[in-house]
Amino acid sequence: MKKSILITGGAGFIGSHVVKLFVSKYKDYQIVNLDALTYAGNLENLKEIEGAPNYTFVKADIKDADSLASLFESHKITDVIHLAAESHVDRSISDPLAFVMTNVIGTVNLLNVAKEAWEGELDQHLFYHVSTDEVYGSLHDDSFFLETTAYDPQSPYSASKASSDHFVRAYANTYKMRTVVSNCSNNYGPNHFPEKLIPLCIYNIKNNKPLPVYGKGENVRDWLFVKDHARAIDTVFHQGKSGETYNIGGFNEWKNIDIVRLLCEKMDQKLGRTEGTSEKLITYVTDRAGHDHRYAIDATKIQKELGWEPSLQFEEGIEITIDWYLANQDWLDHVTSGSYKDYYQDLYENR
Ligand code: NAD
Ligand code: DAU
Repeated sequence: MKKSILITGGAGFIGSHVVKLFVSKYKDYQIVNLDALTYAGNLENLKEIEGAPNYTFVKADIKDADSLASLFESHKITDVIHLAAESHVDRSISDPLAFVMTNVIGTVNLLNVAKEAWEGELDQHLFYHVSTDEVYGSLHDDSFFLETTAYDPQSPYSASKASSDHFVRAYANTYKMRTVVSNCSNNYGPNHFPEKLIPLCIYNIKNNKPLPVYGKGENVRDWLFVKDHARAIDTVFHQGKSGETYNIGGFNEWKNIDIVRLLCEKMDQKLGRTEGTSEKLITYVTDRAGHDHRYAIDATKIQKELGWEPSLQFEEGIEITIDWYLANQDWLDHVTSGSYKDYYQDLYENR
């Protein structure tokens, strides 16, 4: 059967890298990118492949079951890689219901439509759900998240992603759908919306604006270059075992304050500023409510069983990332106009 893969959320940060990888690498697959184009979705992320003969974009919402059903029919969808989601923790604190609607209801809608479209041949199709390490909760010792670690989500965002993971596994168990789930650590790289720590700091350093560090900046995240996550998704899609979960991570833990300092140092060099100039922009602000202390992924399973590992060292990846933002001022101007300004003011003005 010729593959016709539905990738949801393909206009977002990670989704756009997955779409670009699949469209250019697998010319005999049809890639259908479904995205509602919320504030986080941006077709400019896909310029390189927009005219490719094996690529179609469809603007639709995963909450809309009728649109999904007709798309499965018209494009004869054989497999799903599901990335569409509300993805920002701070937004989930201000509006939890939006996260339930998209991440939980939207995912269940998609599962239902896939189940109906694939009735009688569920063993021939794959539903791949892309999830996060945040479902495992917050680490307070030096241990790591394993695939067997019990779920303990702490924010409305991670609770909604945990719920969607449970639904995917429930459909595998109950209806015998072929599913696979991967849980990845923090991504960074080109096309990252500048509400997240790394692109926000790059943008603010460039524009001499304060760098808001939550609490004392002691929280720890494990960072992975986005193209390495896209490669991992390719690996899991093609080689992952049905019903399995794969943790994906960078083996690359950093305290937030150390990342912010590194960005200041590198950007001072690139912008020709005197050493120490940008560090003066660091501003400690009120901590995120319920802020998870540390995330750290043990990615041994995907390494040993599927042969995936990160291709880039962080030093290299962060250089590529900063250079991309400095060279793509138009992209930044477009995404930081309009509603971004209101969001930024609401969130940071009185912190
Ligand atoms: P993003 O916010 O950049 O992109 C999300 C995309 O989904 C956008 O294009 C948006 O328009 C689309 N979308 C949102 N609601 C939709 C809806 N109702 N219907 C259709 N499309 C909709 O997110 P991201 O950072 O690229 O994350 C993608 C996925 O990967 C998410 O499921 C997220 O939970 C997961 N993830 C992200 C990270 C990370 O560090 N960013 C790490 C691990 C897992
Ligand atoms: O771990 C994977 C997750 O990583 C993904 O599932 C999420 O979709 C993604 O947004 C990301 O979540 P985080 O909350 O870890 O990412 P964020 O970039 O928002 O924050 C990273 C750390 O930096 C976190 O400890 C909060 C802190 N922070 C963040 C912002 C936006 C600041 O100190 N200041 C800021 O302005």
